[in-house]
Amino acid sequence: MVAFDHGATAVGTEEASGIVQLTIGMPDVQSAESLIEILRIDHGLDASLRTVDESWKAQSISTMAVTTTRRFVVAAPGATVEESAREVIRLDPGAAFGHGGHPTTSLMLRLLDGIDLAGTRVLDLGSGTGVLAIAAAKGGATEVLAIDTDHEAVESTRANVDRNGVSSRVDVRRADGADIDLRHIDLVLANVTLDVQRLIAPTVRSVPRLVVSGVLCGQVSDTRNAHRSHDARHILTFGSWAAIRFCASETRSQVPATNTQTPATTAPSKPKTTSRYTS
Ligand SMILES: C[S@@+](CC[C@H](N)C(=O)[O-])C[C@H]1O[C@@H](n2cnc3c(N)ncnc32)[C@H](O)[C@@H]1O
Repeated sequence: MVAFDHGATAVGTEEASGIVQLTIGMPDVQSAESLIEILRIDHGLDASLRTVDESWKAQSISTMAVTTTRRFVVAAPGATVEESAREVIRLDPGAAFGHGGHPTTSLMLRLLDGIDLAGTRVLDLGSGTGVLAIAAAKGGATEVLAIDTDHEAVESTRANVDRNGVSSRVDVRRADGADIDLRHIDLVLANVTLDVQRLIAPTVRSVPRLVVSGVLCGQVSDTRNAHRSHDARHILTFGSWAAIRFCASETRSQVPATNTQTPATTAPSKPKTTSRYTS
C-alpha cells in the first residue's frame, strides 16, 4: 500500500455509509505532508493533516482498530475499540501475514459483510492470522476449517482462534488448498495470489460459493477465468487490489440473494473503492 511505502507506521480503515476513511499514522509532519501531496496528485484523494501529541507517535498497529467494516472490527489485542454492534476480531499477527489491515483482507471482510453465514461450513484457505476464519465463525458459520501451508501461519491462526473464543467451531490444520476434500464446504474464502487461485481452482470447483482476493485489478479477468465454473457476482476494488464473490454457475438460482451492494455504488468512496456487479 502506498502509505507504507512512504513511511506509515499504522493504517486504519473505517467504512461508514459507503465512505472508506483511512487514518494513517506518520512518524513526522514532513513525511505526512509529502504523503498528502502524493495522495492528492497521484491518487486524486482528499487528505488532511492532524498533528497529535508525542505519545501518539508511538502509537502503532498495536493500539488502533485496523479495519472496520459494516459487520467487523479487526484490532490488536490491546487496542481500544468503541462499543458497537460489530463483531470484534482481536488479532496478534505473530509471524504470519498481516495484521488484518491489508487491503485484500479488508476487501474480503467487506464482501463477507453481505453474506448470510448462519449455519454454513466455511473453508479459510490460506488463513495467515486466521482473521477470515474468525470472522466466519463470529458471523454465524457452524463449522470453519482454517488451513495454511505455512507452519507459522497455522500457529498464529490457532492462537488467534483461541484468543477470540471460537475454537469449538474452527478447526486449524496445516494443509495445501490444492489438495483437500471440500465435499462438505459451502463457502471458500481464499485471499491468495493468482498463481495459487489457479492451483486451487480444480479443488474448489464443487463448492457453491467462493470469495477470493489477493489479486490485482489487472488480474480480475484471469481470476475469473481460473474459476470459470463459477459466476462472478460482485467485484470490489481498493487501490490496485481486487476481490470477487463467485457463485457456482449451476447453483446460481439456488443461492439466496445476498445483500452485498455497498452504498459505494451510489456514493463515491474515498479512497477510490469501487464496487460493481457483473450479473
Ligand atoms: C495473503 S495471505 C492471507 C492471510 C489471511 N487469510 C488474510 O486474508 O489476511 C495468504 C496465505 O495463504 C497461504 N497459502 C499460500 N498458498 C497456499 C496453499 N496452496 N494452500 C494453503 N495456504 C496457502 C500463505 O502461507 C499465506 O499465509
